[in-house]
Amino acid sequence: MSKVALVTGGSRGIGAAISKALKDAGYTVAANYAGNDEAAKAFTDETGIKTYKWSVADYDACAAGIKQVEEELGPIAVLVNNAGITRDAPFHKMTPQQWKEVIDTNLSGIFNMTHPLWPGLRDRKFGRIINISSINGQKGQFAQANYSAAKAGDLGFTKALAQEGARNNITVNAICPGYIATEMVMAVPEKVRESIIAQIPVGRLGEPEEIARCVVFLASDDAGFVTGATISANGGQYFA
Ligand code: CAA
Repeated sequence: MSKVALVTGGSRGIGAAISKALKDAGYTVAANYAGNDEAAKAFTDETGIKTYKWSVADYDACAAGIKQVEEELGPIAVLVNNAGITRDAPFHKMTPQQWKEVIDTNLSGIFNMTHPLWPGLRDRKFGRIINISSINGQKGQFAQANYSAAKAGDLGFTKALAQEGARNNITVNAICPGYIATEMVMAVPEKVRESIIAQIPVGRLGEPEEIARCVVFLASDDAGFVTGATISANGGQYFA
């Protein structure tokens, strides 16, 4: 029987590429999403991958969502914590609400998803947790005090939990994408985006599939000795 993989924010952007790549690699995939019903429906129509709606910022909704996925598809072996949002603003303009929304989704979201799943992974003595952090959690980014703090927090979470999971064959790793050609990056003003691309030695934005291939490797049995690691996939923009 194929292993079950759950991808948060799995119907759009990098998450959609991850869901598809895991399906192509033989997993039964569940794609979680929070809001965009239309995109989720189009994604299921195109790929045949089931989508499940809840917010990763809500602990009880995560626990219920995981239960539903496991009842329908079987025990989850691979969790990809990909869901993320931006609320960019220079710090002097950043509101407490912009801070809270980003921390709740991008940092607490990975706790909310991993915590209810953890006892099952320990019992089954196998698991793969893959956290999608960001180059901006490694280097910081102007107008992203909230996002950079959350994404740096994701890396600390990864390293701590890797130590706890190791004896039960649960690996916990992070990927730090650089600037990838998704709606999130396309929302950055064009002039700013051009100046960012000028800082990428390979001279282009990354493709979502380039992140998805890293996920497929970390999820595989071959990656059993890789845990607590951070894979930077950023076109040479920053060496952590
Ligand atoms: N470094 C230094 N100064 C910068 C800067 C930078 N990187 N970016 C902008 N500034 C300056 C501007 O030049 C401008 O200066 P002046 O006032 O002297 O002209 C000032 O900051 C901007 O001030 P505004 O009051 O006009 O700013 P705003 O309230 O309109 O906000 C912004 C604009 C939100 C900062 C906008 O420029 C922006 O979105 N920047 C991009 C931020 C970014 O890179 N986000 C990453 C999104 S992608 C992502 O997050 C995915 C991932 O993981 C990689």
